[in-house]
Amino acid sequence: MKKLLLLLAIAFVATATAQETKSVKIVEGPYLQAVGENEFTVVWKTDQAAVSWVEIAPDNATHFYNCERPKYYNTRYGRKQISTLHTVRVSGLEPATTYRYRIISAAAIKGEKDRILFTEQRGSDVYRRQPYFVTTLDPKKEKVTFAVVNDIHAKTAEMETLLGNVKEDGYDFVCFNGDMTSRNNSQDEVFKYYLSSASKLFAAETPLYVVRGNHETRGAYAVSLPELFPSKSGMPYYTFRQGPAFFIVLDCGEDKPDSDMEYSGLACYDQYRKEEAEWLKGVVASEEFRSAPVKIVFCHIPPEENGWHGAAEIQRLFVPILNEAGIDLWLAGHIHKYRLTKAGENGCNFPVMCNPNVCRLDATVTANGIDIKIFDTKSTQLHTHQIKK
Ligand SMILES: [Fe+2]
Repeated sequence: MKKLLLLLAIAFVATATAQETKSVKIVEGPYLQAVGENEFTVVWKTDQAAVSWVEIAPDNATHFYNCERPKYYNTRYGRKQISTLHTVRVSGLEPATTYRYRIISAAAIKGEKDRILFTEQRGSDVYRRQPYFVTTLDPKKEKVTFAVVNDIHAKTAEMETLLGNVKEDGYDFVCFNGDMTSRNNSQDEVFKYYLSSASKLFAAETPLYVVRGNHETRGAYAVSLPELFPSKSGMPYYTFRQGPAFFIVLDCGEDKPDSDMEYSGLACYDQYRKEEAEWLKGVVASEEFRSAPVKIVFCHIPPEENGWHGAAEIQRLFVPILNEAGIDLWLAGHIHKYRLTKAGENGCNFPVMCNPNVCRLDATVTANGIDIKIFDTKSTQLHTHQIKK
């Protein structure tokens, strides 16, 4: 009997040790965020807390293992982060340049006396398969093409159909223009409904820019959602330049007054939009914005003076700033149907186009104008529109 108990105890200790030292697994991603002219950020998730980094190599004939590659760590305040969500910014890059990259994680285990031990490293494969590729933005590029979807509301299969070929077809980037799901109850749900699919289909190599819609502000995880979408400004509103176009991403906030019963007393979007408008004034005054031949705004809710509170506040706070700024197009969603408000209508000196729900808007931009085509999930072309400069 004593012998049996001893064997059971040994088996228990062995199992516990094996559990403590199991290898880390990459369970979500990677996907690209905040791709700029000199930087990009990679995000992925592991099944246990880990220290992570990205290695990059130039896009040349050398094998990835040809030499030690520079490492960029997931750090905060000078210290490597131990986390299941990994956000690594790679900076100091050349514009218009393709780089190879790989991601690596090592699970962190608490040892004796608060020491941290690491398990073996696991990362993306660079010998049985190609490493990932990313190209930094290029303000000198003559033409930029991008795809936009919005108001997907967790229709994952339809989104996969709409975006199935964006990587192969060489789009410069994809924009999620809000309401990708209806409620953000957990990080897992966000991956389940759209971010896993986006990573697998294109976002490991095609830049993804995310716009918060009013539904992105709802659910228990909503307040943490921006951690999945790091931006250059550190806020859910930010800018980027690709080819001839300067893009302003605006955060619309909620659609109803802050005191509405739906928000449980937690909404403070009136103040938030005022702060955002101050930031927007700085953007349109910048040389980077003023020198761009084409200027495009992404904002989930279209401005509407007599509409719901969010739309009316967007009209009151953002439109006067943009009316003086030479905006060529505002791309919105939210109303779940196609609508084009021409320049000069509804108090806007620029056209406002709403892409329908569960449709893909393709845009091609040159210094001479913007060419737009909108498709449904059956690849039927629903609308076209040209804007001449
Ligand atoms: Fe919406």
